[in-house]
Amino acid sequence: MRIVMLGLAGAGKGTQSQILKDELSLSLLSSGDLFRHHQNEGTELGMLAKNYMKNGQLVPDEITINMILDGVNDVGSGGFVLDGFPRTLSQAEALDKALTHDPIDCVVYIRVNEGELLIRLTDRLICRSCGAPYSKRILGPIKDCGKCGGQLYKREDDKPEVVKKRFKAQLPGLHQLVSYYSGQSKLVEVNGDQSVAEVSREALQASSEMMVGNPSK
Ligand code: AP5
Ligand code: MG
Ligand code: ZN
Repeated sequence: MRIVMLGLAGAGKGTQSQILKDELSLSLLSSGDLFRHHQNEGTELGMLAKNYMKNGQLVPDEITINMILDGVNDVGSGGFVLDGFPRTLSQAEALDKALTHDPIDCVVYIRVNEGELLIRLTDRLICRSCGAPYSKRILGPIKDCGKCGGQLYKREDDKPEVVKKRFKAQLPGLHQLVSYYSGQSKLVEVNGDQSVAEVSREALQASSEMMVGNPSK
């Protein structure tokens, strides 16, 4: 099964992708995590992406598309969840072109209002080793990653002024993709303003219903 997660910054794409990956035994490809990995490694790609990310801007399509399609190629015929890609119409079209024989099955759009997203992102901590996100508001004071014991840090682009720039940069593409994937009858909208468990339940149910509709998968 091939799933795309859509949603504005902080909607819960990373949180829910990890759950879908585990529940459905899929590979996980996260564009943001890949860029951050490249930055930590000090690669040329990482340095290029850094200037866009710290200002809340999208990294140019050509760079992003090549990076993700390489990852998709590595997964081969197995299923995957894409977190944070595509984010523009050109990225979606490039993905469809690359997946002519094994197309995307389901696109989960997690919808949350911007006020709540701003609160979530300014409250979030991330594991430096595995990238898992944590909410201080939900979990209380936390020091280390519950999954791998890694150190937690605050993302540079989670400052309120950069979060607002991210919303602005992401909204036009998000609207285009919502209509692009509705046109392909692949879009499922999930109310992200519920608990993590409730969002997962809806996302899992929606993706399994999509598979029932496509029994050849
Ligand atoms: P990326 O890392 O993908 O950032 P983003 O889209 O802005 O989204 P986030 O990772 O901030 O949020 P999320 O939806 O994953 O939410 P999370 O699960 O962490 O991209 C970063 C940058 O890379 C971009 O700005 C851009 O520069 C570049 N980039 C990446 N992809 C690109 C592309 N395709 N094209 C061009 N540029 C690209 O949850 C957020 C918080 O809320 C956490 O603390 C979590 O614990 C909490 N939470 C989650 N669910 C709930 C819930 N149901 N209730 C309460 N709290 C919740
Ligand atoms: Mg994320
Ligand atoms: Zn970790």
